[in-house]
Amino acid sequence: MDLQATRLPLQEFGAANFARGSVATACVLELAADLPADPMKDFRQMKQRGEKITALTAYDYPTARLLDESGIDIILVGDSLGMVVLGCQDTTGVTLEEMLHHTRAVARGVKQALLVADLPIHTYDTPEQAVEAARKFVDVGAQAVKLEGGVSHVTQIQAITKAGIPFMAHIGMLPQSVREEGGYRIKGRTQSEAEALLADARAVEEAGAFSVVLEIVVADIAKQITRAIGIPTIGIGSGKHCDGQILVTHDLIGLFPWFTPKFVSPEARVADEIRRAASAFIERTRAGG
Ligand code: KIV
Repeated sequence: MDLQATRLPLQEFGAANFARGSVATACVLELAADLPADPMKDFRQMKQRGEKITALTAYDYPTARLLDESGIDIILVGDSLGMVVLGCQDTTGVTLEEMLHHTRAVARGVKQALLVADLPIHTYDTPEQAVEAARKFVDVGAQAVKLEGGVSHVTQIQAITKAGIPFMAHIGMLPQSVREEGGYRIKGRTQSEAEALLADARAVEEAGAFSVVLEIVVADIAKQITRAIGIPTIGIGSGKHCDGQILVTHDLIGLFPWFTPKFVSPEARVADEIRRAASAFIERTRAGG
């Protein structure tokens, strides 16, 4: 990775100091010598200082820019894209091309946040495939990638981190496995599930992840995992004891009113605003205005 061409400002956590891809050609150049030696270490420091990490999803330029300007720490181009933007039933039909297309748009709007992109299903079945896909995301502006899996995907994670690409893990409920699992079930209810989750968390840390998303994990187990590992846990529906929280932005702002997960408390009702504005326009236009 060409650190000479990195766009800065330096951030609270150094991960964002990794070079963006070709979309960031209009960057301010800084010398590699100015970069921190270990760009991921500040995430651990945030955890150690008890500073909560904030993360939201974006799939387009305006949303990315608005979130970035709001001071969010991490922007994820999640493969939840499939559900909240593309109208699919789940994330299992999302393609690499779709994810790259949206990541490219998001990258244009992000200046200060760390931009993470999801590797879609079947783009990381082997370590070689995982690295190839991860590089494509870096080329369109992602600074880190995420894939779903713990112990089962250690070789893929090691290959990605060995290639110098920062990696965020994702364990607990894995949406890409929803069809095999027969639904979205909370994880960590049984002793064996809790032990497997802890093993996953330790494995991804060992493999070089800089953080790990815990999706719909029993709150007390999420708390135990958070205490047991050195990298930050970023929870979604996993209680308040994680080191940070992530949400699908459409859920937070009420832009996908047909389904809101139980654990989300929306902060806005954007769908209602769109309906109101559209009705006002229709009425005004039909009235001849
Ligand atoms: O795809 C996604 O949006 C995610 C979540 C963790 C928010 O993976």
